[in-house]
Amino acid sequence: MKVIKAMSYADLSKKAAIVMAAQIIRNPKSVLGFATGSTPLGAYAELARMFADGAVDFSGIVSFNLDEYYGLAAAHPQSYHYYMRQNLFSHVNINPDNIRIPNGVAVDPEQECAEYEQSIQDAGGIDFQLLGIGRNGHIGFNEPGEIFTDKTHLTYLASDTLSANSRFFGPGEKMPTQAISMGIGTIMRAKSILLIASGADKADALSKMINGPVTPQMPASALQYHRDAIVMYCD
Ligand code: GLP
Repeated sequence: MKVIKAMSYADLSKKAAIVMAAQIIRNPKSVLGFATGSTPLGAYAELARMFADGAVDFSGIVSFNLDEYYGLAAAHPQSYHYYMRQNLFSHVNINPDNIRIPNGVAVDPEQECAEYEQSIQDAGGIDFQLLGIGRNGHIGFNEPGEIFTDKTHLTYLASDTLSANSRFFGPGEKMPTQAISMGIGTIMRAKSILLIASGADKADALSKMINGPVTPQMPASALQYHRDAIVMYCD
């Protein structure tokens, strides 16, 4: 795992966007894995700017998102469908047919998970996966637990995640308690990975994922075994 310290959030965002743009330039048909949360917002804004400048072309890109809240329809303002549209997809020339995000209102979530996993395989696997990290070390919605999950699955959110993410939901809005998430195996099968983290509340999880034992109690620690993973962070 390569660990890179950025000078500031602006620097982190710029560097992360440059790494992603380089991936797209090297392979304009890349299969990209996108993440949500507050951390990638700056990187997505930079990517949109690079697209506007003509530096990067998303027309051949296929994208898969890490996860989606179970119970939120694509039009819900707190859904990750909505987030991706607002913060990246509506600003670049990605082909809507090439965008995949788990369906948060699938009637049969097990089937949705199996089909999602299969569609990643059918696309030839993920070339580049962007990740954030939860305060408790989760990646996607792979919460601390007894095992590393392999494939896309329906999961319950940890209490720390519920409290961390409740800030996005208004007083009248009920936050989902479950999500559909790629598994640790799905993430580890990506050919290269960039995890970004910002701020003091991630410092403990970061130090454990980098220096601690590889354990499902700290899901991000699995990345220690990845052949091409970069961790980029700022204070
Ligand atoms: C969310 C997402 C993760 C994200 C993490 C951190 O719940 N499922 O993919 O990395 O929590 O979010 P933030 O960047 O807002 O701290």
